[in-house]
Amino acid sequence: MATPESPYGPSTAENVAGSKPVRLPRLLAAKAEGTRLTMITAYDSLTAAIFDAAGMDMILVGDSIGNVMLGHGSTLPVSLDEMVVATRGVASAVERAFVIADLPFGTYEASPEQALASAVRLVKAGANAVKLEGGRPRADAIRTLTDAGIPVMGHLGFTPQSVNTLGGFRVQGRGEEGEKLLADALAIEEAGVMGMVLEMVPEQVAARVTEALAVPTIGIGAGAHCDGQVLVWSDMAGMTEWRPRFAKQFGRVGDALRQAALEYAAAVREGSFPAPEHWFSS
Ligand code: KIV
Repeated sequence: MATPESPYGPSTAENVAGSKPVRLPRLLAAKAEGTRLTMITAYDSLTAAIFDAAGMDMILVGDSIGNVMLGHGSTLPVSLDEMVVATRGVASAVERAFVIADLPFGTYEASPEQALASAVRLVKAGANAVKLEGGRPRADAIRTLTDAGIPVMGHLGFTPQSVNTLGGFRVQGRGEEGEKLLADALAIEEAGVMGMVLEMVPEQVAARVTEALAVPTIGIGAGAHCDGQVLVWSDMAGMTEWRPRFAKQFGRVGDALRQAALEYAAAVREGSFPAPEHWFSS
């Protein structure tokens, strides 16, 4: 899975496994120890190498690739072939983080057999685990995948693949819906998930679910009581002007990139690049 040496050198930060690769038992033990887990998305080897060197515990090859990289308005158009390519790129660059790849819409809902065939492709591309969306109706698929040796991360709350039934990008689990969310969380834990993402869930509901489960919860817009947090890397790094309430920009990488491109173009136009140190003589 890993390249012999990261282009970013040895990792500069520790993850839950110290200097060793993160394996499933470490992630499960982290909850019992009260160690918060870190997860970020990546869709290619370039960014995956940077996040791995930064000591991320988990790297998610999210189907948010549809919105972030492929120019779609949702995750729905993302294909399994696209996820396989992205997973291969990420896994090729990661030396320590646990790589989780999303099963895209339409590749696991029909039957446990369909889910297994799709998940096998992602594991062969280098994923350590797969993620799928939904509660109790996904229990059979989760059982089939875990029986086949494939760890499964669940995803409850706002589940982007169901945007059409959820009526848009909105908080889930308010009021009586909180009980259903808890029941779904317990059902997929019983089916064997290794943990679950809670997306856009009231923080009190996320706290209740986290308390009720033995497996870790990873929040995004779900408050501070989850066992870990996940962000989409382009939101975290400030690549665009998109600032969802639940994301914090820890940098302004988009501005830095735009400035570098401006300076490059200006240097070419004024003739200061390339300079002698950039060319070869006969
Ligand atoms: O696809 C994705 O990026 C996700 C995260 C929002 C958890 O599922």
